[in-house]
Amino acid sequence: MSTPSPLRPPAPLHPVGLRLQGRQVVVVGGGPPAYRAAAGLLDAGAVVTVVGPTVVPALEALAGSGALTWHRRPYSSGDLQDAWYAVAATGEPGLDERVAHDAERCRVFCTTAGDPGTSTALPDHPAPHEHPAPQRGGPGRVVLVGGGPGDPGLITVRGQQALAVADVVVVDHLAPRTLVAGLRPDVELVDASKLPRGRAMPQEEINALLVSHARAGKHVVRLKGGDPFVFGRGMEEVLACAAADVPVEVVPGVTSAVGVPGTAGIPVTHRGLTHEFVVVSGHVPPGHPQSLVDWSAIGRLRGTVVVLMGVDTAPAIAASLVEHGRKPGTPVAVVTEGTTSGQRTFRTTLDELADTIRREDVRPPAVWVVGDVVDLAAEAHRGDA
Ligand SMILES: C[S@@+](CC[C@H](N)C(=O)[O-])C[C@H]1O[C@@H](n2cnc3c(N)ncnc32)[C@H](O)[C@@H]1O
Repeated sequence: MSTPSPLRPPAPLHPVGLRLQGRQVVVVGGGPPAYRAAAGLLDAGAVVTVVGPTVVPALEALAGSGALTWHRRPYSSGDLQDAWYAVAATGEPGLDERVAHDAERCRVFCTTAGDPGTSTALPDHPAPHEHPAPQRGGPGRVVLVGGGPGDPGLITVRGQQALAVADVVVVDHLAPRTLVAGLRPDVELVDASKLPRGRAMPQEEINALLVSHARAGKHVVRLKGGDPFVFGRGMEEVLACAAADVPVEVVPGVTSAVGVPGTAGIPVTHRGLTHEFVVVSGHVPPGHPQSLVDWSAIGRLRGTVVVLMGVDTAPAIAASLVEHGRKPGTPVAVVTEGTTSGQRTFRTTLDELADTIRREDVRPPAVWVVGDVVDLAAEAHRGDA
């Protein structure tokens, strides 16, 4: 790569935005900076390939859901062959430089996460005036922020303000990835994802991390998907901070339990139709020794049942609801990746649910909704062109 002469100052950057929709982009590396880059690229509609022997759980989740391709191996020089754009984010300056060199040779623009000097493209970050005036400094503290189900516009103003002044952000894989992609470059990002039946940072380790960063005087945001207190283990983190005398604040979020059906046009209640809705975790099936759910009571309900973390267990749960009284033909809607550009809705019935999930290859994150309210969505769109 040609380096600027020491006698001549580098030419100013030429500011452009890249239209990456449908275009191949390669991210080399697997740590939090690679995740942050991949998150932004996916939002731009790029076809993302990540190359690296290991990746953080949030990237593994994106690969598992088919959102991106992960080549689980070291970088090799041919990797940029078909790329329009590349990001070198390995954390190893020598390797990043090699990627930048290869990119230069292939005429591919490249951002080097750790060293703007070797980048031929510089990442764009929100101008400071787009956020409320940061109030940094002061003693360390923790803010648990509910990021909402996926659409970055669904975070609260207060949550956004907390992110704007954060020094450290500890994320889950369901935290809206556009928010992660938009963090200031100097923010330390920690991936504390718990993948369904996969890799997970132990809760005690997350608690200890929050406390130790806050004690070091940092403003820590614990950014979660949805609401921190809906199957989010938020209270365990609040208690850990309280026990350590670390100031902690909770900023509620839009929960997927209500927001995701709502975005699919399904209200969880409706006057004259449903006077109750119940949100249930399906992470273990009925009859499992760890289950705390009275499925026979849920089966007897007339109202709306919303199941979270219940893709694998859907066949067993649906069978149990029918066994305890719910009609086999009760309408069901399964909504995946709600509020994001990948949102899909499948309408079915309790007795067909298992088949639908298999046939449509439904994967988490998904919520499914049982009850007459499901039919309202279809009714609302009757007559649409
Ligand atoms: C560990 S729970 C956390 C729930 C979160 N605290 C909330 O209030 O939405 C994760 C589950 O939430 C649901 N979920 C979260 N985001 C979703 C989305 N965008 N679309 C569909 N389901 C989602 C899925 O059932 C997923 O398995």
